[in-house]
Amino acid sequence: MLINNDTIIKDDDERIREKSEDVSFPVSKEDKELLMEMMEYVDKSTNEEIAEKENLRAAVGISAIQLGIPKKMTAIIIKDDEGNKVYEYALVNPKIVSQSIEKAYLESGEGCLSVEDEHQGYVYRSARVKVKAYDLLKEDYIEIKAEDYLAIVLQHELDHFKGILFYDRIDSNNPFHKEDNAHPIE
Ligand code: NI
Repeated sequence: MLINNDTIIKDDDERIREKSEDVSFPVSKEDKELLMEMMEYVDKSTNEEIAEKENLRAAVGISAIQLGIPKKMTAIIIKDDEGNKVYEYALVNPKIVSQSIEKAYLESGEGCLSVEDEHQGYVYRSARVKVKAYDLLKEDYIEIKAEDYLAIVLQHELDHFKGILFYDRIDSNNPFHKEDNAHPIE
Protein backbone atom coordinates (compact mmCIF):
# COMPACT_ATOMS: atom_id res chain seq x y z
CA MET A 1 0.00 0.00 0.00
CA LEU A 2 1.03 3.57 -0.52
CA ILE A 3 2.30 5.01 2.76
CA ASN A 4 2.71 8.76 2.97
CA ASN A 5 1.48 11.68 5.03
CA ASP A 6 -1.90 11.54 3.29
CA THR A 7 -2.55 7.83 3.90
CA ILE A 8 -1.35 7.72 7.53
CA ILE A 9 -4.40 8.16 9.72
CA LYS A 10 -4.43 11.02 12.18
CA ASP A 11 -5.86 11.44 15.65
CA ASP A 12 -9.12 12.91 14.31
CA ASP A 13 -9.87 9.45 12.89
CA GLU A 14 -11.39 7.17 15.53
CA ARG A 15 -9.56 4.11 14.14
CA ILE A 16 -6.37 5.41 15.79
CA ARG A 17 -7.99 4.45 19.13
CA GLU A 18 -8.70 0.87 18.06
CA LYS A 19 -6.98 -2.00 19.87
CA SER A 20 -4.66 -4.06 17.71
CA GLU A 21 -4.88 -7.85 17.56
CA ASP A 22 -2.12 -10.44 17.58
CA VAL A 23 -0.81 -11.41 14.16
CA SER A 24 -1.30 -15.11 13.45
CA PHE A 25 1.58 -17.36 12.56
CA PRO A 26 3.02 -18.22 10.17
CA VAL A 27 3.02 -14.57 9.15
CA SER A 28 0.99 -14.22 5.94
CA LYS A 29 2.47 -12.83 2.76
CA GLU A 30 0.14 -9.86 3.09
CA ASP A 31 1.30 -9.05 6.64
CA LYS A 32 4.96 -9.45 5.67
CA GLU A 33 4.53 -7.09 2.74
CA LEU A 34 2.82 -4.50 4.90
CA LEU A 35 5.50 -4.60 7.57
CA MET A 36 8.28 -4.34 5.00
CA GLU A 37 6.52 -1.35 3.43
CA MET A 38 6.34 0.22 6.88
CA MET A 39 10.11 -0.37 7.24
CA GLU A 40 10.67 1.25 3.89
CA TYR A 41 8.59 4.25 4.94
CA VAL A 42 10.60 4.80 8.11
CA ASP A 43 13.89 4.35 6.29
CA LYS A 44 13.03 6.77 3.49
CA SER A 45 11.37 9.29 5.80
CA THR A 46 14.69 10.49 7.19
CA ASN A 47 16.12 11.14 3.73
CA GLU A 48 15.14 14.76 3.24
CA GLU A 49 15.15 14.66 -0.54
CA ILE A 50 12.98 11.55 -0.84
CA ALA A 51 10.77 12.67 2.04
CA GLU A 52 9.96 15.93 0.34
CA LYS A 53 9.33 14.33 -3.04
CA GLU A 54 7.14 11.53 -1.66
CA ASN A 55 5.34 13.51 1.06
CA LEU A 56 6.82 11.61 4.00
CA ARG A 57 7.16 12.94 7.52
CA ALA A 58 10.35 11.97 9.31
CA ALA A 59 9.88 9.18 11.85
CA VAL A 60 11.74 6.50 13.75
CA GLY A 61 8.73 4.23 14.01
CA ILE A 62 5.29 3.42 12.66
CA SER A 63 2.66 0.93 13.76
CA ALA A 64 0.12 -0.81 11.54
CA ILE A 65 -2.89 0.85 13.18
CA GLN A 66 -1.58 4.14 11.81
CA LEU A 67 -2.53 2.75 8.43
CA GLY A 68 -5.89 1.69 9.80
CA ILE A 69 -4.82 -1.94 10.19
CA PRO A 70 -5.34 -3.17 13.78
CA LYS A 71 -2.53 -5.71 13.88
CA LYS A 72 0.39 -5.82 16.28
CA MET A 73 3.16 -4.86 13.90
CA THR A 74 5.63 -2.03 14.23
CA ALA A 75 8.63 -0.86 12.21
CA ILE A 76 11.49 0.92 13.95
CA ILE A 77 14.67 2.37 12.46
CA ILE A 78 16.91 4.61 14.53
CA LYS A 79 19.85 6.24 12.77
CA ASP A 80 22.84 8.16 14.02
CA ASP A 81 23.72 11.68 12.84
CA GLU A 82 25.53 10.27 9.80
CA GLY A 83 22.43 8.35 8.74
CA ASN A 84 23.78 4.93 9.70
CA LYS A 85 21.21 2.55 11.14
CA VAL A 86 21.83 1.97 14.83
CA TYR A 87 18.67 -0.04 15.49
CA GLU A 88 16.37 -1.70 13.00
CA TYR A 89 13.41 -3.87 13.94
CA ALA A 90 10.41 -5.22 12.05
CA LEU A 91 8.40 -6.46 14.99
CA VAL A 92 5.45 -8.81 15.02
CA ASN A 93 3.48 -9.19 18.26
CA PRO A 94 6.03 -7.35 20.42
CA LYS A 95 5.31 -7.45 24.12
CA ILE A 96 6.96 -5.76 27.09
CA VAL A 97 7.97 -8.50 29.51
CA SER A 98 9.66 -6.31 32.10
CA GLN A 99 10.28 -2.64 32.70
CA SER A 100 12.22 -0.48 35.10
CA ILE A 101 10.65 1.66 37.78
CA GLU A 102 13.15 4.34 36.85
CA LYS A 103 11.71 6.66 34.22
CA ALA A 104 13.08 8.60 31.28
CA TYR A 105 11.58 11.30 29.06
CA LEU A 106 12.51 13.18 25.93
CA GLU A 107 13.50 16.69 26.82
CA SER A 108 11.99 18.07 23.63
CA GLY A 109 8.82 16.00 23.95
CA GLU A 110 7.51 13.25 21.67
CA GLY A 111 6.05 13.42 18.20
CA CYS A 112 3.90 11.06 16.19
CA LEU A 113 3.00 10.61 12.53
CA SER A 114 -0.67 10.57 13.56
CA VAL A 115 -0.48 13.82 15.52
CA GLU A 116 -0.25 17.11 13.66
CA ASP A 117 -1.05 19.59 16.44
CA GLU A 118 1.62 20.49 18.91
CA HIS A 119 1.31 18.94 22.36
CA GLN A 120 4.01 20.19 24.67
CA GLY A 121 5.01 18.40 27.82
CA TYR A 122 6.96 15.53 29.22
CA VAL A 123 5.99 11.93 28.57
CA TYR A 124 7.39 9.78 31.34
CA ARG A 125 8.17 6.21 30.39
CA SER A 126 10.25 3.39 31.80
CA ALA A 127 13.96 4.02 31.28
CA ARG A 128 14.52 0.36 30.47
CA VAL A 129 12.26 -2.27 28.96
CA LYS A 130 12.67 -5.84 27.89
CA VAL A 131 10.60 -6.66 24.80
CA LYS A 132 9.92 -10.05 23.27
CA ALA A 133 8.81 -10.23 19.66
CA TYR A 134 9.12 -11.98 16.35
CA ASP A 135 11.47 -9.97 14.13
CA LEU A 136 10.70 -10.27 10.45
CA LEU A 137 14.23 -9.12 9.51
CA LYS A 138 15.82 -11.96 11.47
CA GLU A 139 12.90 -14.29 10.83
CA ASP A 140 13.18 -15.35 14.43
CA TYR A 141 12.00 -14.57 17.93
CA ILE A 142 14.10 -11.97 19.65
CA GLU A 143 14.43 -10.30 23.00
CA ILE A 144 15.36 -6.63 23.05
CA LYS A 145 16.92 -5.13 26.14
CA ALA A 146 16.32 -1.46 25.49
CA GLU A 147 17.21 1.61 27.42
CA ASP A 148 16.64 5.34 27.11
CA TYR A 149 15.77 6.47 23.56
CA LEU A 150 15.11 3.00 22.14
CA ALA A 151 13.06 2.11 25.22
CA ILE A 152 10.94 5.23 24.73
CA VAL A 153 10.40 4.53 21.04
CA LEU A 154 9.33 0.95 21.77
CA GLN A 155 6.88 2.08 24.45
CA HIS A 156 5.47 4.78 22.16
CA GLU A 157 4.89 2.26 19.36
CA LEU A 158 3.44 -0.41 21.64
CA ASP A 159 1.05 2.20 23.06
CA HIS A 160 -0.44 2.45 19.55
CA PHE A 161 -1.60 -1.18 19.92
CA LYS A 162 -3.75 -0.01 22.83
CA GLY A 163 -4.98 3.10 21.06
CA ILE A 164 -2.92 5.32 23.33
CA LEU A 165 -1.25 8.46 21.96
CA PHE A 166 1.74 10.15 23.56
CA TYR A 167 -0.16 13.22 24.67
CA ASP A 168 -2.57 11.07 26.70
CA ARG A 169 0.40 10.63 29.02
CA ILE A 170 1.16 14.36 29.42
CA ASP A 171 -0.07 15.86 32.68
CA SER A 172 -2.51 18.44 31.31
CA ASN A 173 -2.48 20.47 34.54
CA ASN A 174 1.28 20.64 34.67
CA PRO A 175 2.82 19.41 31.39
CA PHE A 176 6.40 20.01 32.48
CA HIS A 177 6.17 18.72 36.03
CA LYS A 178 9.31 16.99 37.22
CA GLU A 179 9.07 13.43 38.40
CA ASP A 180 11.48 11.93 40.86
CA ASN A 181 13.50 9.01 39.61
CA ALA A 182 13.32 10.20 36.00
CA HIS A 183 16.09 11.40 33.72
CA PRO A 184 15.91 13.52 30.58
CA ILE A 185 17.08 12.31 27.18
CA GLU A 186 18.21 14.82 24.60
NI1 NI B 1 3.18 7.42 17.10
